Order: sequence, then structure tokens, then C-alpha cells
Amino acid sequence: MYTQSFNVPDNAGGKTVPLAPSIEDPVLQAAFDTRIDADGRIEPQDWMPEAYRKTLVRQISQHAHSEIVGMLPEGNWISRAPSLKRKAILIAKVQDEGGHGLYLYSAAETLGTSRDQMLEGLHSGRAKYSSIFNYPTLTWADVGVIGWLVDGAAIMNQVPLCRCSYGPYARAMVRVCKEESFHQRQGYEALLVMMTGTEEQKAMVQDAVNRWWWKCLAMFGPPDADSPNSAQGMRWGIKRVSNDELRQKFVDATVPQAKVLGVTLPDPDLKWNEERQHYDYGQIDWNEFWETVNGNGPCNKERLATRVKAHNQGQWVRDAALAHAAKKQARNIKEAA
Ligand SMILES: [Fe+2]
Ligand SMILES: [Fe+2]
Repeated sequence: MYTQSFNVPDNAGGKTVPLAPSIEDPVLQAAFDTRIDADGRIEPQDWMPEAYRKTLVRQISQHAHSEIVGMLPEGNWISRAPSLKRKAILIAKVQDEGGHGLYLYSAAETLGTSRDQMLEGLHSGRAKYSSIFNYPTLTWADVGVIGWLVDGAAIMNQVPLCRCSYGPYARAMVRVCKEESFHQRQGYEALLVMMTGTEEQKAMVQDAVNRWWWKCLAMFGPPDADSPNSAQGMRWGIKRVSNDELRQKFVDATVPQAKVLGVTLPDPDLKWNEERQHYDYGQIDWNEFWETVNGNGPCNKERLATRVKAHNQGQWVRDAALAHAAKKQARNIKEAA
């Protein structure tokens, strides 16, 4: 569901992603530039500069990792959902996130890197995923707030990616965005119901909002002034809207929703600016953000360990699928003979 919205370099010194050969060639480069300038699409079989390919592999794989790690904090609540209806909705949402991972790994594979390589990067701790998933889900209200705010922020980030210059990524995002919209709505609706409940339930919603608000603002990535790679992403038509612009859109869209819900957003500096026609907001704690990106958030170790365990426990499924495919292929060859 969630891009980092900026490209965190994978740890230096690790195995690099092997790239399909593409020789620097001024004629091919000019054709590539012309297509980008005309807002055209680049497809897997097309020539592309190595830096473009490398940036996409990193961004799409980070995005895919975020989807499957994003299944974990909410997956913890499936067995504790308060009703059959909420359980069914949550299972559907968590399954969607797994599906998003699948579309995105497939899109990244078209750039010449295998899913095994990408997963190895994730499981060894070299590759990044969205830091928002390194925080705990303490109460049922967190599930609603994640839908409302985390998926809400993800939609802001991802709608412009439907126009990304790389065809397979853009097409994957169209379906992802439709599903994210359901995620956001189910979260908001769950919170609306809780806000008609007891004082304890209302307090639980407010507490969850207080804990998630600032982390969601940080999801859009560092301020534009501190995002030196953003300009290149924009030039390539990968990134369409800047981090600060997306963050502002999210704040402007969310403040009225918070009013309807009856919660306060934990920022004393949050107020309407008549001149700018936008909401002003306070300072984000970027130190905390980078600490979490760099592995020291409250749940980094737990998330990675759970992911590795799930992967290892799924080995028999992969083995069985391969055995089945081999058997089928052998049968086809025999029948053709
Ligand atoms: Fe989602
Ligand atoms: Fe998703």
C-alpha cells in the first residue's frame, strides 16, 4: 500500500541488483528523453538508462516490501477483531496488501531482477520498507486509524504513480489505488462507529490518532529541500508531485474528516491559513523518523523476524508448486510425444 515516497538507498556494501545490459548510447538516450518529454510510457523491452532502471528497481521493490510487511501489524488483529463483520473486512484488506506485493514484485521483475533477489534483500535487512510499519498496533482503534490515515496517506502518494513513466508500475498502481480506497473507507467507518460508543471507545480512538498522526505526516518523506533525488525522479516522470505538496494535500483533506469524526489532531500549530488557502502545521520530528528508517524503531526487529519466519514456513508451498509444475510439464511433453 505504501511507497516510501522517496528512495532510501539500500545499505551500502551489500549485493547489488544485477542489471540487464544496457550500453550507454547517445542515440538511444535521445530517443528515451524524447519519449519522457512527450509524457510517453517506457516498457520492459525498451532501452532505458541504467540509472533509471536502478531507481525503479529500488523504488518498486521497496514498495513491494512495504506491502507485505504492512500485512503484519494489522494481521495481528485478525484473531481479535470485535465482530465477524470486522474480521471479514480485515482479512480482505490484509489479503489485498499481499496482492499488492505480488503485482509490484512482478512489475519489478520486468526490470531484470528476480523476486528471490528482492526478498533476500528484505530478509537480510539491506532493503528498506516504509517505516510506518515499525510501530505497534496497541488497540483495535489502531486498525481503524491505520485504514483512515496510513492508507489515506498511501492513496495521496500512489495516485500520481498511476501516471508513472514506467508502464508496468503505472498499470499495477491503477488497481492498487482502487483497493486502497476501500482500505481507507473501512478504517474511517470503523472509527465512526467507535465514536458513537462508550467514553472508553472514544478515548481509544483519540489515543490512536495521537500516536499515528505525526508518523503519517512523515510517510511523505523528508522536506523537498532535503530530498536531492526527487528532482531526478521528477525529470524521469517517476515522481509527479513533491513530498511537501503531497503532505499538504493530505493535511488539507484530513482536517475536515477529523472534525466529522470528532477527534482532535495532536498539533497545536495546525490552523487554516487564509492567505495560502491551506492548513499550516507544526514541525515533524525527523530524527525519530531516521532512527526508525535506520532500524531502531520500536518494532523493526520483530517485523523482520516475523517476515523471515513466514517465508521459511512457506517453503513447503513453494516446493509443492515447483513439483506440481515439473509434473505437469513432464506430462505435457509425454502427451506431445
Ligand atoms: Fe492498503
Ligand atoms: Fe496496499
